[in-house]
Amino acid sequence: MANGNRKRIVLAIDGPSGAGKSTIARRLAERLGFTYIDTGAMYRAVGLWALRQGVNPADMHRMEQLAIAAGIELQPGRIRLNGEDVTDAIRRPAVSDAASKVAVIPGVRRAMVQKQREIGERSSVVMEGRDIGTVVFPEAEVKIFLDARPGERVRRRLRELKAAGNDISENELAGQMQERDQRDSTRADAPLAQAPDAVYVDSTGMSIEEVEEAILKILRSRVTNGKEFN
Ligand code: DC
Repeated sequence: MANGNRKRIVLAIDGPSGAGKSTIARRLAERLGFTYIDTGAMYRAVGLWALRQGVNPADMHRMEQLAIAAGIELQPGRIRLNGEDVTDAIRRPAVSDAASKVAVIPGVRRAMVQKQREIGERSSVVMEGRDIGTVVFPEAEVKIFLDARPGERVRRRLRELKAAGNDISENELAGQMQERDQRDSTRADAPLAQAPDAVYVDSTGMSIEEVEEAILKILRSRVTNGKEFN
């Protein structure tokens, strides 16, 4: 059995961009021995493919076909699209924009959700995105809605982009993030929303370690009666 005698666990982390989901989810997965799934990277891979193929990311029919055909493989910290490592390519600002546009299309979401459920059924996962606790795994054992104040979210993203060699001003990035968050939160299909049974965590002013500990505490209280997990 994949996890010995222990039940398979889904830890779902949703929230807006720059709230710290990826950093926290990756660390928690490593610590718990769970599989880390960055679902945003999957929408980014589909967006990247659209840009490369010259397909309009808003073209519902063609985008659904691309999403179904996309060979997406997730490995710890890396993502492959049709066999090619696109981990760095999907972080470019143009791909952020395309990802948020393709993520509006119901057929694209159906294809991604199916892949995400297949992965989550194989092992315990820390899965992060926008609709994990509401749509992908509504029965997840633990749901976190991770948020932070807009100014802090912009500064965190800016640091990440600059570290990766992207030159963008704080003002320009703030405008782009606001546009994407607005699109992600107002689309008809699976908008960013806090599930009624999710715990809200505001990471503004908290260190990475503090957020990690806060979520571990929630996990322990829900799954192991407050005891250490491992
Ligand atoms: O988390 P991220 O910024 O890498 O996500 C890229 C885009 O994909 C973002 O605009 C929201 C969208 N997305 C989504 O609609 N549903 C998810 N589960 C994950 C991401």
